[in-house]
Amino acid sequence: RLPKPYGTPLPIPRTAVPVRTAGGVDRYELVQRVAEAEILPGLKTEVWGYDGTFPGTTIAARSGRQIVVNVRNELPAPTSTHLHGGIQAPASDGYPTDLVAPKGYRHNPGGPGHGGGHEGVMHVAPDDWTVTRLAKDYVYPLDQPAATLWYHDHRMDFSAPQVWRGLAGMFLVHDDEEEALGLPSGERDIPLMICDRAFDEDGALRYPSLDPSLTGEPGVEDAYMEGVTGDVVLVNGAPWPELEVAAARYRFRLLNASNARRYRLALEPGPREGASFTQVGSDAGLLAAPRSHDELPISPAERYDVVIDFSRYPVGTTVTLVNRIGEGSTRRVMRFRVARAAKDDSRVPRKLADVEPLAASAAVAERQFDFRQTQVEGMKVWTVNKKPFRSDEFLARPRLGTVERWRFTSDFHHPVHLHLAHFQVLARSGGDVLPTDGGWKDTVDVRPYEVVDVLARFSGHRGRYMFHCHNLEHEDMAMMANFQVV
Ligand code: C2O
Ligand code: CU
Repeated sequence: RLPKPYGTPLPIPRTAVPVRTAGGVDRYELVQRVAEAEILPGLKTEVWGYDGTFPGTTIAARSGRQIVVNVRNELPAPTSTHLHGGIQAPASDGYPTDLVAPKGYRHNPGGPGHGGGHEGVMHVAPDDWTVTRLAKDYVYPLDQPAATLWYHDHRMDFSAPQVWRGLAGMFLVHDDEEEALGLPSGERDIPLMICDRAFDEDGALRYPSLDPSLTGEPGVEDAYMEGVTGDVVLVNGAPWPELEVAAARYRFRLLNASNARRYRLALEPGPREGASFTQVGSDAGLLAAPRSHDELPISPAERYDVVIDFSRYPVGTTVTLVNRIGEGSTRRVMRFRVARAAKDDSRVPRKLADVEPLAASAAVAERQFDFRQTQVEGMKVWTVNKKPFRSDEFLARPRLGTVERWRFTSDFHHPVHLHLAHFQVLARSGGDVLPTDGGWKDTVDVRPYEVVDVLARFSGHRGRYMFHCHNLEHEDMAMMANFQVV
């Protein structure tokens, strides 16, 4: 029994306020805890949330202004928090074995749920864990331009069920250049965290964990090897919500926070004139110039920063954000109701930001990574270059400050994400990139049997970082690898 669509107003997550500011550094505190939410009307759902909410509190920070986020763990299981798209030192990057352990949690390296891996392959050397008790300070220098980032759980072997339970939030970076553009702002700049979930009759989130306590055996039942999807589409934690809008321009920060579902977003009906979406930014920042799209393919962890101009619809129109590759209940996402005429002094300038287009000749090295299902000791596992993850193995050692050409190949849809390094998509199977591939990105959907070339810039910090498939079940099933910036 699914709730009726468009019956819930779109929730807007609360924006965090710093608990204090000292020496130009803002300090935030987030508490991870179990809470009850009303996601399906009339039913209670247990969630694990940053500040007990799903999505978590939005953090809105400024480029070039360092912040510290203290994450306190009051959940029954350990966590690791990753700022996705952030350029931060390894100690604050939310490495999967860099845990924040709750009170009473006994860490037992080598035991189940401690990097042994459900396929019987050891992923983590016993001494390769860092366990912080109760709370940890994550330091984000934010030496990066305005962008739509997000933060989420990244615990070894358990990211998928922990994000599914609600451990994800938006993280916006603003800068002067962006604010001078005159893009829609304030109440007309709205994050849309899109994810699918499945529920039991009583409202509980349904996820096929082998051990639902998330403290023992990791993994999901074999039938979910390709990823876990649900039949309810949530936007900012509400099922198929509705947003009342003025006949004006709105800026939406679209994020696909699903574990495994891809979407092809479109507006129905489309506007009388012009394209449905004016894209102003991609994963890691603004585009050089706006681009028009009628469809936005979005894979897990990708973002689009878009403007929709509702003045092109008569007042009274309802406009549905649909998913053209969905089936049944997942064909729709949310609805906008154009409720009233309004004054609008926002604009979308023809030039947005300085984005230096990288040339292939800038690359000092070329590497190839194959994302594929492989048999390891008779078990099917997801691998990078035929290897399941090992915390102490490095598949690349890029030099700080250089650009490298990385080529991804695959047997399936794998949204490939690099920590630290932002990249530009150079080619798909040797030819043209997608119209939506522009700008600086940190995640790219590598489609079945496709070859995707990117130019990645390794800057900011030395040390151990990872890259992995952002289908969270694939990630938990070892489709991750390390690189070391030297
Ligand atoms: Cu959004 Cu390593 O992940
Ligand atoms: Cu994958």
